[in-house]
Amino acid sequence: MSQHLLLPLAILAISPIPGAFQDSALSPTQEEPEDLDCGRPEPSARIMGGSDSQPGTWPWQVSLHQGGGHICGGSLIAPSWVLSAAHCFVTNGTLEPAAEWSVVLGVHSQDGPLDGAHVRAVAAILVPDNYSGVESGADVALLRLASPARLGPTVRPVCLPRASHRFAHGTACWATGWGDVQEADPLPLPWVLQEVELRVLGEAACQCLYSRPGPFNLTFQLLPGMLCAGYPEGRRDTCQGDSGGPLVCKEGGRWFQAGITSFGFGCGRRNRPGVFTAVAPYEAWIREQVLGSEPGPAFPTQSPELQSGLPEPTDENCTIALPECGKAPRPGAWPWEAQVMVPGSRPCYGALVSESWVLAPASCFPGRISSDLPPRDLDNWRVMLPSRPRAERVARLVPHENASWDDASNLALLQLRAPVNLSVAPRPVCLPHPEHYFLPGSRCRLARWGHTEPVPGAGSLLEAELLGVWWCHCLYGRQGESVPPPGEPPLALCPAYQEEEVAGRCWNYSHWSLLCREEGTWFLAGIRDLPSDCLRPRAFYPLQTHGPWISHVTRGAYLEDQLAWDWGPEGEETETQTCPPHTEHGACGLRPEPALTGGLWPWLAEVHVAGERVCTGILVAPGWVLAATHCILRLGSTTVPYIEVYLGRAGASPLPQSHQVTSAPPLLCQTEEGSWVLVGMAVRGSRDLFAAIGPEETWISQTVGEAHFLHPSGFPHWLPEGGDLCPPDMARASGSPRAALFLLLLTLLIQG
Ligand SMILES: *[C@@H]1O[C@H](CO)[C@@H](O)[C@H](O)[C@H]1NC(C)=O
Ligand SMILES: *[C@@H]1O[C@H](CO)[C@@H](O)[C@H](O)[C@H]1NC(C)=O
Ligand SMILES: *[C@@H]1O[C@H](CO)[C@@H](O)[C@H](O)[C@H]1NC(C)=O
Ligand SMILES: *[C@@H]1O[C@H](CO)[C@@H](O)[C@H](O)[C@H]1NC(C)=O
Ligand SMILES: *[C@@H]1O[C@H](CO)[C@@H](O)[C@H](O)[C@H]1NC(C)=O
Ligand SMILES: *[C@@H]1O[C@H](CO)[C@@H](O)[C@H](O)[C@H]1NC(C)=O
Ligand SMILES: *[C@@H]1O[C@H](CO)[C@@H](O)[C@H](O)[C@H]1NC(C)=O
Repeated sequence: MSQHLLLPLAILAISPIPGAFQDSALSPTQEEPEDLDCGRPEPSARIMGGSDSQPGTWPWQVSLHQGGGHICGGSLIAPSWVLSAAHCFVTNGTLEPAAEWSVVLGVHSQDGPLDGAHVRAVAAILVPDNYSGVESGADVALLRLASPARLGPTVRPVCLPRASHRFAHGTACWATGWGDVQEADPLPLPWVLQEVELRVLGEAACQCLYSRPGPFNLTFQLLPGMLCAGYPEGRRDTCQGDSGGPLVCKEGGRWFQAGITSFGFGCGRRNRPGVFTAVAPYEAWIREQVLGSEPGPAFPTQSPELQSGLPEPTDENCTIALPECGKAPRPGAWPWEAQVMVPGSRPCYGALVSESWVLAPASCFPGRISSDLPPRDLDNWRVMLPSRPRAERVARLVPHENASWDDASNLALLQLRAPVNLSVAPRPVCLPHPEHYFLPGSRCRLARWGHTEPVPGAGSLLEAELLGVWWCHCLYGRQGESVPPPGEPPLALCPAYQEEEVAGRCWNYSHWSLLCREEGTWFLAGIRDLPSDCLRPRAFYPLQTHGPWISHVTRGAYLEDQLAWDWGPEGEETETQTCPPHTEHGACGLRPEPALTGGLWPWLAEVHVAGERVCTGILVAPGWVLAATHCILRLGSTTVPYIEVYLGRAGASPLPQSHQVTSAPPLLCQTEEGSWVLVGMAVRGSRDLFAAIGPEETWISQTVGEAHFLHPSGFPHWLPEGGDLCPPDMARASGSPRAALFLLLLTLLIQG
């Protein structure tokens, strides 16, 4: 089981409930005879490790139905009273009519006829006057049944704690419910009541976790009357549909209800334990509501020795859980790399995503994913994992339902016969949740994926920075598709490579996956089918859209929250941007190809850097050549290397083998009058993406007095449709990737 998302925050003021019999003039603190036996289920064997409960284990658990379906959980506290959560009954500030609700008691599996169960109508729903939404606390409700429940082996009340009762940090308790088994993943048939062991987290320990800005830079201040239970590492939790259900702890042979399932941030996420309404502080309120009802709930006294528990870490010295996935000793040594061997096929690469599951392209298994039957030779399949002495055997192949027709879903999951012991290696890679936002500029790497050819350019770094979603979309997206804002799954992820394409090498027939790093942790961010040409893959299908499918199949893949969230106003302003029009030559206009022109572009310069790298420069005035910064300065280097500039020969002769061509040619556009204008310099690693020159006009003209700029009013006069045209707005385009905005002017010492 794991937990529901934080519910919508409704602002409301609940007035005293009409029809509720309450008389606040009476003292609620009088002692009641404990004539009701509580918290003692008939003994029954319980599967502690499993998640299905045994019938009769939790006889106070009830299911609250509305419109014929389970909505929330609750607990029987007296024959005529059920305890639950206020947010189950308050919609948009209004308490729902009691008549719409019914209580199902003694139910175990909710599939089919509710054998042994019985149903009671609800006479009244009582909610504290000051309940205003889960995040403000007081998320508690009492339901008065129209007629008392029939007590028996499967229907018994739970004990309630007194206000002085303490559930110490570290106490092992159990939460139960029919809620989702994971985020957005409903409990499968036959809907058997689920149980999960959770540890009480002391207030300071829990606040410490919630003070850590998680994804979306979100922190939460716990309020008095809230109780946390779960684990810093997450993975066990309550989830949507469990609301209102009990958190119970066993003391001296009795079960006490410590909490009411209230809310959480996602389900089972790391450092985000479930938040419950603490029951003990509501002793007086509960007694007040049930006054006069016989028999009422039982509040047995806690034995004094249980009042103190484990020492609790404080806000200052508490430890938060770190991701258990995505740690690699160094880039390229991937501890999740799984090599899948299928008889008759070449080895295929995938990634370990949990103790038992490997994710790989479905195209690794041609001819084996068409039928619903398991592949006949599955017994002979093997998976090699790093640091494992023997190959793993495969128990199951689960292809993605859309794998055969949708390249973006070319995925399959392989279950290993036996789970592997996770350590430094093998270790699973982290997977992104659907709302994960990989920041522009994130450091990424290519990793082997599927049937991969030997890496072109051995020793190549395969290092890349992510382009912004907008640029990625404009360059490789489908025309007319709107750009998703941050927080929505992107349509593609585009790496901008740190090193140049190696001339003459071809990336044909190679699949790659894109790994991106956040705070030292690697995420499997994207997958790529066959590239369409010899270039490195330019756009990857984002994996995050598949998170729900992967977690549904694996029940334990390492989906990890976003770790870096620094997307402020400088993040992408996607709403105001429009893509420049495309032509067959790239983002705009003509990209001069020396071979095509049959002659030389007289302004092109060959800039040789440190005797080996070559990039294209542009002669903008006698004595001045403009080149891209990335061409001259290497990452991390502050010194300008030895540079030579050759004029009048760019493209005329082939370069010696030792030279690496660092950049694509610049973008030039022709005006109506026939003169050529430099519009953009190629961005590192890209053939289609250019940093606009327009915004740099001031800087360039201040440095180079003689540089000639076309007056802006001269720009709109372009030739009509067709040919080598530039759209007028391209000349003044803004929003180029920052990395390329810095241009370097070279003073020519010797003019040749
Ligand atoms: C919630 O209440 C507000 C104001 O009372 C109203 O405008 C809105 O439509 C309501 N929403 C729903 C879903 O009922
Ligand atoms: C509601 O009122 C009670 C009693 O006055 C108080 O203890 C509690 O903190 C209040 N809760 C909220 C959410 O305002
Ligand atoms: C740190 O936490 C421990 C409990 O784990 C506690 O006993 C100790 O007092 C705390 N130390 C400080 C300096 O807060
Ligand atoms: C398969 O494709 C259909 C249609 O686009 C979509 O509704 C469905 O969610 C996809 N299945 C998965 C598991 O993503
Ligand atoms: C898993 O590895 C740890 C550390 O190497 C070891 O202590 C433990 O016994 C192993 N467990 C199994 C089931 O192999
Ligand atoms: C890559 O594909 C192109 C076009 O399909 C082909 O001409 C070329 O020979 C291929 N190169 C390799 C190394 O397979
Ligand atoms: C995170 O939120 C806090 C307070 O809301 C704010 O001061 C801080 O600047 C935010 N940090 C980032 C990186 O957005």
